[in-house]
Amino acid sequence: MSDQKNKKIASSSGRLGVLTPGLGAVSTTFIAGVEAVRKGIAKPIGSLTQMGTIRLGKRTEDRVPLIKDFVDLASLENLCFGGWDVFHDDCYKAAANAAVLDRNQLDEIRPFLENIKPMSAVFDPRYVKLLKGDTSNVKTDKTLMDKAEALMRDFDNFADREKADRLVVVWCGSTEAYLEQKPVHQDLASFEKGLRENDPHIAPSMVYAYAALKKGVPFCNGAPNLTNEFPAMLELAEKTNTPITGKDFKTGQTLMKTILAPGFKARMLGLNGWFSTNILGNRDGEVLDDPESFKTKEVSKLGVLDYILQPDKYPDLYGDFYHKVRINYYPPRGDAKEGWDNIDIFGWLGYPMQIKIDFLCRDSILAAPIVLDVALFSDFAKRANLKGIQEWLSFYFKSPIHAEGLYPEHDLFIQQAKLKNTLRYLMGEDLITHLGSEYYDF
Ligand SMILES: NC(=O)c1ccc[n+]([C@@H]2O[C@H](COP(=O)([O-])OP(=O)(O)OC[C@H]3O[C@@H](n4cnc5c(N)ncnc54)[C@H](O)[C@@H]3O)[C@@H](O)[C@H]2O)c1
Repeated sequence: MSDQKNKKIASSSGRLGVLTPGLGAVSTTFIAGVEAVRKGIAKPIGSLTQMGTIRLGKRTEDRVPLIKDFVDLASLENLCFGGWDVFHDDCYKAAANAAVLDRNQLDEIRPFLENIKPMSAVFDPRYVKLLKGDTSNVKTDKTLMDKAEALMRDFDNFADREKADRLVVVWCGSTEAYLEQKPVHQDLASFEKGLRENDPHIAPSMVYAYAALKKGVPFCNGAPNLTNEFPAMLELAEKTNTPITGKDFKTGQTLMKTILAPGFKARMLGLNGWFSTNILGNRDGEVLDDPESFKTKEVSKLGVLDYILQPDKYPDLYGDFYHKVRINYYPPRGDAKEGWDNIDIFGWLGYPMQIKIDFLCRDSILAAPIVLDVALFSDFAKRANLKGIQEWLSFYFKSPIHAEGLYPEHDLFIQQAKLKNTLRYLMGEDLITHLGSEYYDF
């Protein structure tokens, strides 16, 4: 019997505009990458929507289509791009500054990238202190509500100019200073009053999220900011039937953690401690050198192990482990980050063992395919009439936003199963339980 969700999914035909607040390392690597793939210069490695397959039905049926052939996702040919930044650099210059991709590769698509110029940003230096240079490409409207309305006009102008039929927004801006929920975040009326009165607890990223949701445009948060994770935003998302997702792209060290920790737990191996340290030298690293921005990142990175290992359920294995995360800004490295993990585990009869990881990764190379996938899946979710928090996209985030009363799922493999089962469900295919009892239960 099929578990089909009885809903029609609107077609992906027409152009999809992907808008990114922040035209920095991640977003320019994403945009340049999509163009390079479209031109046949490179392959979309790391993107589940472009390279992933999905098994349908029993193993004997041998039905394993590409995900993009199974669900109606916007094609790369139909994507167009825009963004906002406090710097005036166009996408080519910003990508060259970020120095993630080779200059030769960028030069092959230079005119395309030069055409993408940043719209003026909604910005408040109190939330991002360590940006250096000419940060004058900002909106100067009087209230935050005026700025939100200016952003909504940006959406319309972009859609007219690029002939975009639909939009999605993916926050690729800097990590903002740590914020906790305040009364202004608790319901939509209070939040809108706060926008009109320039409430200091409304961060710029929230203004973008508000503008997007108000227009019914899906909003994904790639940074650890509070941005779209509070009741007022949820109320607005419900009201306008809009999907939201986030937060903080799962790349690098945290990706490794959510691959390894489920393995330790699956085999009932204990953990005494996990010490993680990083060096990175890109602008993201520079911004995270400010303790208030680092706090936001730290909270996002630390939650992962507790949720995966469930110390309350396994006190003998995980009741008392020490977990530390450090990020050090080290300019010579640029985007080529290095992350070290020392993991103290224990096995049979409590005998200790150690694992050392030295991950020489490239942050933005790992993040760019995530931007593509969350943009395409959020657009798909909107066309499938899904609204509010899209937990099935937790796969992509360090600190997945989740429904109240539930804990976030961090285990990469459960997240993957949930994502694929959601696609099967939406397309009217049987969910896969991996039971297979018919082969030995007579
Ligand atoms: N690279 C990764 O692997 C990774 C992983 C998880 C999360 N992130 C997060 O993604 C975000 C982007 O990372 P990045 O490496 O591209 O950083 P980046 O510093 O290269 O780019 C961020 C850009 O955002 C701009 N910006 C800041 N505030 C803005 C605002 N209010 N409006 C418009 N633009 C604004 C900055 O000027 C900068 O150009 C960061 O928050 C980072 O923490 C990155």
